[in-house]
Amino acid sequence: MAVRLFEGKDHASAYLNYRVTPLELISTIISYMEKKSPGPFGLAVDVGCGSGQGTVLLAPYFTKVLGLDVSPAQLEMALVNCCPPNVTYKQSPAEQLPVDAGQVDLLTSMTAAHWFDRQKFLLEADRVLRPGGCLALLSYTMDMELEHGNTTEALNDVCKEFYTALLPYRNPHLGSSSVKIYTDMFASCPYPDKEWNECFRLRRTVSLNGYIGMVETFSNYQVMLKKDPAEAQRLSQHIRTRLLEAMKVSSPDSEVTVVVKYFYWLARKPL
Ligand SMILES: C[S@@+](CC[C@H](N)C(=O)[O-])C[C@H]1O[C@@H](n2cnc3c(N)ncnc32)[C@H](O)[C@@H]1O
Repeated sequence: MAVRLFEGKDHASAYLNYRVTPLELISTIISYMEKKSPGPFGLAVDVGCGSGQGTVLLAPYFTKVLGLDVSPAQLEMALVNCCPPNVTYKQSPAEQLPVDAGQVDLLTSMTAAHWFDRQKFLLEADRVLRPGGCLALLSYTMDMELEHGNTTEALNDVCKEFYTALLPYRNPHLGSSSVKIYTDMFASCPYPDKEWNECFRLRRTVSLNGYIGMVETFSNYQVMLKKDPAEAQRLSQHIRTRLLEAMKVSSPDSEVTVVVKYFYWLARKPL
């Protein structure tokens, strides 16, 4: 069963402001593709593209890029974001892709496949990929860490408190571990040429408010916000205050390094 979230306009616009997509991972995907064929490549399809931050990064490498998402609010933001001439967007569920069989050079899903009906999505991926085409699924764990001078340990104690407070609001569709969802999908992929990587740490400098904004885009925070808006806002404010104290600064615009732990898998459909 697929799960429909991320549909609200505010949530979609927060996505555009705060979510980051790793350019470094896009390069890894392209290098994997180039191992077997030099490019240039034809069609890339990004499923669960959200507001398109990752989709547009594919544009330089492909003749055409198609971003697909079930949420009209997210697609509206994708068009506001930035739309290179070879990128188009369409509303579509991951389980029924609007693409003919054997047409796709690269099928990506960035921080989205855990929401899909995974079996149906993998069957669709196999249908639309051309022989030799690649599938790339990536995501990251929620437990992002912060670094700031010698206050790192204190900051991460506060971050853990934040994540613990959000745990009761985790969607049951996700089970207890997002990594397990992806290792299970990886195990079920029958392609012999495939690789798993769990240790890709990405560092980004953001403002403290940017970090809080990022956590607020997580589905569990959004659930809490719906169920108990006052408590969700109190929690964010409490965490902000505690982090400011730990950093010994007064402005929430102060910069901090956020460490995001990515994991991903790549697979090539046999020729
Ligand atoms: C966490 S967001 C990721 C967005 C973007 N790929 C990124 O990296 O920021 C997940 C996206 O998947 C979409 N989504 C969830 N279930 C879907 C489904 N069954 N079919 C297509 N899109 C889906 C949501 O609407 C949302 O935009």
